[in-house]
Amino acid sequence: MGEKTVNLKPVARIISEYSHDYDSNLIAILQKTQDEYGYLPKSVMKEISKVTDVPLTRIFGVATFYSQFTLIPRGKHAVKICTGTACHVKGVEDVKQRVKEHLNVVEGQTTSDYQFTLETVACIGTCFLAPVMMVDDRYFGKLTTDTVTDIVKGYSN
Ligand code: FES
Repeated sequence: MGEKTVNLKPVARIISEYSHDYDSNLIAILQKTQDEYGYLPKSVMKEISKVTDVPLTRIFGVATFYSQFTLIPRGKHAVKICTGTACHVKGVEDVKQRVKEHLNVVEGQTTSDYQFTLETVACIGTCFLAPVMMVDDRYFGKLTTDTVTDIVKGYSN
C-alpha cells in the first residue's frame, strides 16, 4: 500500500519542543510524532532526520526496535479479532475469514480508505462471549459470520 500524502508541517512544531540533544530525545520525538499521525510515515521520518541531523538509519532503527511504534498506517477503527483457544473452538476462524473478505485486507493491514486496521489478538479475557472481537474499545461477542459484517458495517462512514 502506498503512503497517503502526509502533511509535514507538524514535524517542525514537534521538534521545536526539543531545542537540543535530539538524539537522546528521539524516542520522545517519535512518540509525539506517532500521536500526531497515528503511525510513523516514512516521509515524516525523513523530515525529522533532515531537521535534527540525526541519521535516518538511526531513526528507522529506533522506530522498528520498539513495539510501541508502528510504521504502518492505522485505520480510524481498530478491529481486533480474538484467536485464543475458546474463540478458536467456537469458530472464530470463519468469523475472521468473513471480516477479511468484507474489508478486503489480511491481518495487520489497513483498508485502502483508512477506515479499519485488522488485527488478531490472544485471549482478551471474555471467553464466555466467544467468539469475540473488539472494535476500538468495544467488545462484541457470540459472533457469527452473519452478524460480524453488520457490526463492522456499523462503523463505516
Ligand atoms: S479466547 Fe477469546 S476471549 Fe478468551
